[in-house]
Amino acid sequence: MKVQNTLCCIFVCWLGWLTVQSKAQSDSGIPHLRKQGTATQLIVDGKPFVALAGELGNDASTSLEYLRPIWPTLVQVNLNTVLPVAYWELLEPEEGKFDFTLVDGIIEEARRHNLRVGLLWFASWKNGVSSFAPVWAKKDFKRFPRAQTKKGTGLEIFSAIEGYGDATRDADARAFAALMRHIKEVDGQQHTVIMMQVENEVGVLGDSRDRSPAADKAFAGPVPKDLMDYLQKNKDTLVPEFRQVWEANGFKTSGTWEEVFGQSAATDETFMAWNYARYIGRVAEAGKAEYPLPMFVNTWLYAFGKPHQPGRTPSGGALPHLMDVWRAGAPRIDILSPDLYSDFVPFSAQYTRSGNPLFIPEGQGGAEGAARALYAIGRHDAIGYSVFAIENNSLWQDPANDLGRVYKALSQLMPLIVDHQGKGMMTGVLLEEKGQIEKVRLGDYTMSATFIRESGNLPPPPPAVPRAGALFVLTAPDELYVIASGRMTITFTPNTPGPPLVGVATVDEGSFVDGRWVQGRRLDHRVTGSYDVGALRMPFAYDRSEHSILRVTLYRYQ
Ligand code: DGJ
Repeated sequence: MKVQNTLCCIFVCWLGWLTVQSKAQSDSGIPHLRKQGTATQLIVDGKPFVALAGELGNDASTSLEYLRPIWPTLVQVNLNTVLPVAYWELLEPEEGKFDFTLVDGIIEEARRHNLRVGLLWFASWKNGVSSFAPVWAKKDFKRFPRAQTKKGTGLEIFSAIEGYGDATRDADARAFAALMRHIKEVDGQQHTVIMMQVENEVGVLGDSRDRSPAADKAFAGPVPKDLMDYLQKNKDTLVPEFRQVWEANGFKTSGTWEEVFGQSAATDETFMAWNYARYIGRVAEAGKAEYPLPMFVNTWLYAFGKPHQPGRTPSGGALPHLMDVWRAGAPRIDILSPDLYSDFVPFSAQYTRSGNPLFIPEGQGGAEGAARALYAIGRHDAIGYSVFAIENNSLWQDPANDLGRVYKALSQLMPLIVDHQGKGMMTGVLLEEKGQIEKVRLGDYTMSATFIRESGNLPPPPPAVPRAGALFVLTAPDELYVIASGRMTITFTPNTPGPPLVGVATVDEGSFVDGRWVQGRRLDHRVTGSYDVGALRMPFAYDRSEHSILRVTLYRYQ
């Protein structure tokens, strides 16, 4: 009897321990962000994950039937993640009545095709306007007021102004919370859904700010204390172009918007950014209280370096110069993302400031996308790259297209990539301008990359506009793995004392199978030096070594 009691007690204790253990495991198993060196990694099922993604077109996810033939294509082109839309109007067709059919169907199909999901919450705003909000909310313009023009005309844009748009914000937040609660119920263990986009490309269009009387009143009032406190606390690390504006007005610590930031359209935009950030921050907070997946916002950009006119592109979005305002207003948003179709190099660099992890939810496909994905992941430790409207992109129907091949190589190299993130042992180059020579340091070497028009006998003729990118992982002082897309020559110079010249010793083609390097061809002299002594020339004559994984070793001489 005594033995039985003791055994019983041990069993109950073990059960209790098991329960605690599995709860802890499933809690920490929620996809989340984690630092590794200078990088921020997205952790999925305990391991770092880089999204090799595609975003579905805006209306594709309104029909599971429409999506049915698309799923296998996504697998064929080597995606590991898909970004479909969750629409507020279809999720809550009647106020308080939720329909999760589409979300459930998407999760189920994604699982069947071994894909992860980043879900895009199209709710109060999509591309600035409120077109994806439920009709019952759009019709009730008294309860859910609109932004207005100077003439007092209502816009197809819900007002984001704090204290005025609160009912809209709360309705949106309730629906988002219901969605997150549901995702937790159906996916809290399997983690098919790994991240959430909250709203889509927000901001006022057609004017630099909301001109409703409520907005005018808030604009004439003081800059909220929360924002002032944030700016003072982070004064030394603010993004420089925003700090300059504040400095030009005397670093005031209180006052109206125009007193603190000056009288300009840029101040209108700062005011809108604060209000959008507060609103969306509250929506994200409500969702995270149910199920705290990593959350991001995406941004409609302007042309880099050209005069920027707030309102021509949405005024108040998470633009590079407004990153601090967004951080202050929406601390529960983890990532500020650019929708990056042009000016890739400068914008991607800007979106890594203030510790922001780079995630590109919308970008180009094909050859451009291939080069850019390599660069973003190599140079900036991006946690993902996604091509927009993949199901409409004819290139995507061709499994041999450049981005598909690059995704394949990247997924094989992934264990090495995530292991080297944030440690200064990985980089990338992107050549998109005529005559561009890009120099980048990696370990003991400086690499110099140049676009080349011709490469041995390789057909077809290269494009006139350079389009080449590569990712490099340094695995030993003289050994690196490379994936390249497009045509380029890389030369190496040493950064350390010793023999001044660098030669390419070997170039091997290969693959990783179950994380193990499987050696392929040793590539011949044409690769390593017949055109430029000591140069690594990519891709290689006669064949499709472009987009494959190369292991390169270097040596020094004099
Ligand atoms: C940016 C938006 O975020 C997308 O939803 C889509 O409409 C594209 N623009 C179209 O280019």
